[in-house]
Amino acid sequence: MTPRTAPRLPFSVSPVSLGCWQLGADWGEVSEESAHGVLAAAADAGVTFFDTADVYGDGRSERIIGSFLAARAASDGEAEARPEAIHVATKMGRRADPHVAGAYTLDAFRAWTDRSRTNLGVDTLDLVQLHCPPTEVFAADATYDALDTLVSEGRISAYGVSVETCEEALTAIARPGVASVQIILNAFRRKPLDEVLPAAVAAGVAIIARVPLASGLLSGRYDEHTTFAANDHRTFNRNGEAFDVGETFAGVPFDVGVAAAREISALVPDGALDRDGSPVTTSQLALRWILDQPGVTTVIPGARTAAQARSNAAAADLAPLTKEQSARFAEIYDASVRPHVHARW
Ligand SMILES: NC(=O)c1ccc[n+]([C@@H]2O[C@H](COP(=O)([O-])OP(=O)(O)OC[C@H]3O[C@@H](n4cnc5c(N)ncnc54)[C@H](OP(=O)(O)O)[C@@H]3O)[C@@H](O)[C@H]2O)c1
Repeated sequence: MTPRTAPRLPFSVSPVSLGCWQLGADWGEVSEESAHGVLAAAADAGVTFFDTADVYGDGRSERIIGSFLAARAASDGEAEARPEAIHVATKMGRRADPHVAGAYTLDAFRAWTDRSRTNLGVDTLDLVQLHCPPTEVFAADATYDALDTLVSEGRISAYGVSVETCEEALTAIARPGVASVQIILNAFRRKPLDEVLPAAVAAGVAIIARVPLASGLLSGRYDEHTTFAANDHRTFNRNGEAFDVGETFAGVPFDVGVAAAREISALVPDGALDRDGSPVTTSQLALRWILDQPGVTTVIPGARTAAQARSNAAAADLAPLTKEQSARFAEIYDASVRPHVHARW
């Protein structure tokens, strides 16, 4: 994979990276052994960037990544010496209880990042993102002063934000210290194309596209009868009961998403093979569409199995979508998905 970068990001990243929420909790059961298998498959397929958070499994995802990277460094020699060094982005803020704007203080930032440094086994975190804080946090000078302090103290190399809305993204991009914006961007969430991506390009801010498969809907594997485990957010957050409903199926009603994903599946060319010689899948086409959007630095699909991680990485080597395929993506969105999401996030 040819690495991508952005002027404000102090390291380059693989275009397809790995989301590591699945390695913590909230997606049914993922054993520690399969979690290590997912990380190894991604790294072996050229992924050089992992996205996690201090709350995924209350630190389990961070700890698994930390032990994976330590084992890999021990078996390969000095991690820094390898050209394909892996960088890890984590997030902070959601440990606050109650989760209110006033919890986002320098003292809390120090405590949260210290815990993440221990979990990941590093002195300096590569990238820390505010984890979808209350909107007013993005407008406060004190937020960025505290983040700058973490950089000067050597706790973190760079900081970014994870946002729910395009407005929040634009507020953060205007701040000179913000290196990255993580936002939901996929075939069912196109609004960032209007203003956020152009603003990020102009400012040199990295765009990390999350929930790229709309929580799996864009794999085209589900039908109207598909169910998920009780401890999977696709069951327990279907209507936003636990957190923003936009994080589950990108906020698209399940039946609407299943039908629209079927139409996306129809665009996969018959007989096409990926770099591993496997038939091109709907997931890969959906990821490739994101990579085609100017301003996208990396896309972070979550994977519950090694095979998923491998297949997602191979999407980076597919040819860009044709004009006709891209036009159909837009038509499918406009016809059924747009009314459910466009004005909301
Ligand atoms: N607030 C935030 O900052 C925030 C919120 C959400 C996510 N994130 C980050 O973004 C990452 C990605 O988002 P996400 O994991 O929520 O959603 P996603 O990447 O859109 O969907 C992940 C799901 O897609 C399915 N999938 C993945 N690869 C596949 C493949 N090759 N073939 C078929 N199905 C495949 C799997 O579903 P099955 O489980 O059915 O196999 C997997 O659990 C997270 O891991 C996390 O790092 C951040």
